[in-house]
Amino acid sequence: MASDKVLVGVIGGSGLYNLSNLTFVKEVTPQTPWGTPSSPITIASLPSGAQVAFLARHGTGHTSSPSALPYRANIAALKSLGVRTIIAFSAVGSLREEIAPGDFALPSQLIDRTKGVRATSFFDNTGVVAHAGFGDPYSPKLGKWLEQAIKEALADEGRGVKLHTEKTLVVMEGPQFSTRAESVMYRQWGGDLIGMTALPEAKLAREAEISFALIATATDYDAWRPHEAGVTAAEVGTILRQNADTSRHVAAHVIERLLALTESGEALLSEEVGSMRFALMVPPK
Ligand code: ADE
Repeated sequence: MASDKVLVGVIGGSGLYNLSNLTFVKEVTPQTPWGTPSSPITIASLPSGAQVAFLARHGTGHTSSPSALPYRANIAALKSLGVRTIIAFSAVGSLREEIAPGDFALPSQLIDRTKGVRATSFFDNTGVVAHAGFGDPYSPKLGKWLEQAIKEALADEGRGVKLHTEKTLVVMEGPQFSTRAESVMYRQWGGDLIGMTALPEAKLAREAEISFALIATATDYDAWRPHEAGVTAAEVGTILRQNADTSRHVAAHVIERLLALTESGEALLSEEVGSMRFALMVPPK
């Protein structure tokens, strides 16, 4: 049975600025102790009547760069609406031949190459020290379930878009793309994908005890291919529209299924609830 609460949030990345395939209900802009989110949050409803909260990570007119995004306000705003699970979309470069532009991927690991300019914790300057477990940066049960649901959605769409799983995503600072040497190095490190926004989003979702998954949409081959020019913004822009249409279709299918789940769905939605219980440092008694 579908819940009337807004349990699921979707964060849209480059190219995905709305879920125009769903029915608009209202727009809200929660204020948080960490400021205002990147965009107003659209509450939309699915054919079943269930509701979803959508936030455009870069703003609806793509006005905020990856280094300057209000990541904490975004996660806190979704949490304040009751969201328990976030499915985020992000445009990424591919570091592997077999992941072609236009393909989708569900990363299971992250390598942090952001350079300390982003606030990464809700506990900064609170007088409380917390060490969230982050060995599995994406919620594993949600990820496993999503794999099947996304494959169904992609088959149903019929464009032949592939889904890759268990991939490692390198998150770099930007806004410039990588040099060839960096791109080759990330491959040697085991990176499969490269993007600019997946962190600190995943860290903050974990601190907020929200289950979190990222659907990465490949736009280019970055700069590691020896006889090819490095990636340009124009190249990325060309494929964004196609990826955004597929993302909207995938989001609708996945959310409808997620919310239609009964008891096991509830367990999926609350996978991270209680995960911070033993993360706070307290003096020994
Ligand atoms: N987003 C899309 N393509 C990218 C790339 N090659 N590097 C970093 N972020 C990206």
